[in-house]
Amino acid sequence: MLRRLFLHGLFGLSAVLVAGTEDRVADLMARMTLEEKISQLVQCSSNDELTGPRGERSPLMAEIRAGRVGSLLNVVGARETRRMQEAAVTGSRLHIPLLFGLDVIHGFRTTFPVNLGQAASWDLAAIERAERVAAIEASAAGVHWTFAPMVDIARDPRWGRISEGAGEDPFLGSAVAKARVRGFQGDLSGPTHILACAKHFAAYGAAQAGRDYWTTEVPEITLRDTYLPPFKAAAEVGVATFMCAFNDLNGVPCSGNRWLLDQVLRKEWGFQGIVVSDWGSIAEMVPHGLAADLKEAARLAALAGVDMDMEGQAYLKHLPELVRAGVVPMAQVDRMVKAVLEAKAKLGLFENPYKYCDEAREQRDMLRPEHLEAARDLARKSFVLLKHDPAVLPLRAGARVALVGPLADAARDQLGMWEAKGRPEDAVTLKAALEARLPGLVVTAPGCAVSEASRDEFASALKAAAQADVIVAALGESWDMTGEGHSRSKLDLPGSQQALLEALKATGKPVVLVLFAGRPLTLEAVLPQADAVLYAWQPGTMGGPALADVLLGDVSPSGKLPATFPRNVGQIPLYYNTKPGGRPQPAGPREQYRSNYLDTPNTPLFPFGFGLSYTRFAYTDARLSSPEMGLDGRLTVQATLRNLGDREGDEVAQLYVRDLVGSVTRPVRELKGFQRVRVPKGGQVALSFELRASDLAFTHTDGSFAPEAGRFQVFLGGDANAPLVGEFTLRAQ
Ligand code: NOJ
Repeated sequence: MLRRLFLHGLFGLSAVLVAGTEDRVADLMARMTLEEKISQLVQCSSNDELTGPRGERSPLMAEIRAGRVGSLLNVVGARETRRMQEAAVTGSRLHIPLLFGLDVIHGFRTTFPVNLGQAASWDLAAIERAERVAAIEASAAGVHWTFAPMVDIARDPRWGRISEGAGEDPFLGSAVAKARVRGFQGDLSGPTHILACAKHFAAYGAAQAGRDYWTTEVPEITLRDTYLPPFKAAAEVGVATFMCAFNDLNGVPCSGNRWLLDQVLRKEWGFQGIVVSDWGSIAEMVPHGLAADLKEAARLAALAGVDMDMEGQAYLKHLPELVRAGVVPMAQVDRMVKAVLEAKAKLGLFENPYKYCDEAREQRDMLRPEHLEAARDLARKSFVLLKHDPAVLPLRAGARVALVGPLADAARDQLGMWEAKGRPEDAVTLKAALEARLPGLVVTAPGCAVSEASRDEFASALKAAAQADVIVAALGESWDMTGEGHSRSKLDLPGSQQALLEALKATGKPVVLVLFAGRPLTLEAVLPQADAVLYAWQPGTMGGPALADVLLGDVSPSGKLPATFPRNVGQIPLYYNTKPGGRPQPAGPREQYRSNYLDTPNTPLFPFGFGLSYTRFAYTDARLSSPEMGLDGRLTVQATLRNLGDREGDEVAQLYVRDLVGSVTRPVRELKGFQRVRVPKGGQVALSFELRASDLAFTHTDGSFAPEAGRFQVFLGGDANAPLVGEFTLRAQ
């Protein structure tokens, strides 16, 4: 009889296991040969879709039938996954089902905004809903396991993968990580629940100079307080799997990093799920220079605790001999295999290996109206208004619009990097949406291509502008300028776009700039050339209608930046929660012998958390409930948020804290709370944040994690430059 047991894990969260799972797994393992066990640790990619460099390989179907594969990636579709599952279940000796994995990064068929844009919504419920939709669609196409969420903190917008994460802040990043895991996994009991994967463990986003796959050197305190929190948060809500990162971390590549994978992840955090390598990352320990050959790489990875070898040959070729020679203990292999089999059992694949291969559901569940509505809602909330002239935006009813720029009608670019099964033909572009809303009033001309130097098409754009009352310029990056392996050293508008913008501005017509990009761009030269600037990220399938909703004023923009926008590349890395330094530059003109530049200010162009609205908000009556708290205490921060304008709007109120003196120097500000609230026109909302002493903990030089008694400042407002509310003392007891 199947009985459900709710096992409360280390963090008090429930994992659902079917009673009998352990017996089934133990029974199976008792009957498996060493080779059969190791086969469970092998993951191969389909030959049709590759997401990394491919080495030599024998035919996939033959491998599956021979029971030499435990998991596949990049195989999608109810019919295709069923075909392969049948081969595994009927062909292999022990009939063990396969696990199908895919990069479902920001939607499956319904494409949501790129993840950095999603984070700009600061709307955890909407983000969780997006992943629920992604899981419903992906699971209907046979996918059991998504290689998401990517929870890497990124402080360098040159790094192309900044678009896949939640930006620079560990507090926001942790909250988003939890929401995404919950959305994908649910309680892992139903046919729409899929395994999530916290990746890339760890500090992959700290790649030197923002160059993908490159070396990272991160002190342990920074690792623990900045880069690891979103991973720990994912573990706390029961993420089923982790992926280790490609990078060399302080001299030990993550795939062989025993401290990281064993000491921190398994021993300190109690993680019991699968750790999968990144694509070929075990073998990459050879070029890294940590292993002399593939066999040594296999040994290092197995002993560190990498359970599954993604698209590599290290385990298949070398683990059997390493175990037979006693170099890798059998007990270690058993633990690895158990993690894989338990994941299969948790999904119910032993009862029904075809649970996710439902062609009828696959037909039914893609692009459902509620999925498209969720995508439109999240896109609207992700847009960040960087510059505003109320005379220009929202667009006036009846205004004739010149819609100019290479991204006005660029369905593929609108989807962004890593679109899974998202299709350009499903996407509604800005042009299509504006024309539908403003029949006969929109004239369109691309003006130039995204990255080319040519100005040949400027004339047609200027002609369109001459016929219009207002210019809407759709500029920015193409979809393939961010994502894996797509770092940039310059972050200005590519090609001739800046020149096009200047030519448009020179017409004297009002210019509304809509910027599409997967990362923060450097906008110092751009801002003076537009009257209003809306940052649209890469907004996905419903990006066009969502933009029309905002441009036409149905909804006020409410997104806030999840990453600092630098003035220029030379300022990078630039992030708000920086250390104060011994010679800080005071506000005001540059001072000699202070930490600053000769040629640019220290301040960003836009701080973390920044975003304007069509209305105006004021924070009043801000106060602390007490001037002190004890080490196990708490206090509240209260304020009234007033909407001073004549229209409804959403505001993301942000609470920051500064620990003035610490045994380890403390950041100038740290985000400790946020609330997204809707305020009616002329209305007000009472804000209340609770601050506990444990929220003030940090890592000390001896490795302990605790708050320290002393003075703290509290700031509350609409971005990382929020004004001071007051100070309190944390007492020693
Ligand atoms: C490499 C990427 O780093 C990782 O994020 C992805 O999941 C795998 N390739 C599989 O596509």
